[in-house]
Amino acid sequence: MLPLKRALSSPIGRKFVMSISGIALVLFVIVHLLGNLTLYIPDGGESFNRYAAGFEALGPMLYVMELGLLAVILLHAFWGISTWLRNRRARPERYAKSIATKGGGSNLNIASRNMAITGSFLFFFLIIHVWHFRVRKETVGEKTTVNGQEATDLYALVVGSFENPAWVFFYTLSMVVLAFHLRHGFWSALQSLGAMKPRWSKQIYAFGLIFAILLALGFLGMPIYLFLAAA
Ligand code: HEM
Repeated sequence: MLPLKRALSSPIGRKFVMSISGIALVLFVIVHLLGNLTLYIPDGGESFNRYAAGFEALGPMLYVMELGLLAVILLHAFWGISTWLRNRRARPERYAKSIATKGGGSNLNIASRNMAITGSFLFFFLIIHVWHFRVRKETVGEKTTVNGQEATDLYALVVGSFENPAWVFFYTLSMVVLAFHLRHGFWSALQSLGAMKPRWSKQIYAFGLIFAILLALGFLGMPIYLFLAAA
């Protein structure tokens, strides 16, 4: 095995890959949330479409960025699942025991045990989500004018989707799952990167919890707000 591959496949290397890719994805999600907050501005979608048109204006560069994002998502998902399977195969009994004993006093609680499940659900959410908005933007998106230029009316696509309570439910559920995944992921990433002194563990965990709730609420409010606004 090549030295780099061996290093990255070691338990510490695996945690390192998961932490760095996880942090990169969190940065993307923060930027995505900040841009999407324009959905809350009651201006008929002008601000949101202007924001979306900014990305369209990147041209081929946008595809390069999307490919980079896809690579990080796939790396995080497959490395995570393979690490989880490997841990289970290697020590199924000790694993169960460590959970049972650490569950009370430590942070190895429901969220950490369920990272593989919540992560898999989010992967499924992303497939549906990217098809729902990114792909359908190209296939069924209508045109509008932004700053005198023709652009996709992404706002109409989003608003139209969230008139349907089934989509509102799916997105709300997904954002709750996202909060659970981030809650533990944030703490775990900082711990793996050694950025956390044990005595800060509780504070960092509390910060991760607040961060996860705020992020999920910011997203979760969008379908609910748009659904109620259309009612
Ligand atoms: C209610 C919450 C959300 C709304 C309303 C929303 C909205 C959108 C829209 C409109 C697009 C298409 C953007 C474009 O083509 O210009 C998009 C793309 C995307 N979203 Fe979301 N999003 C939400 C939550 C999330 C979350 C929580 C994640 C990640 C966990 C996420 C990940 C993505 C990704 C990866 C893309 C594709 C980006 C690209 O290819 O350019 N979204 N989202």
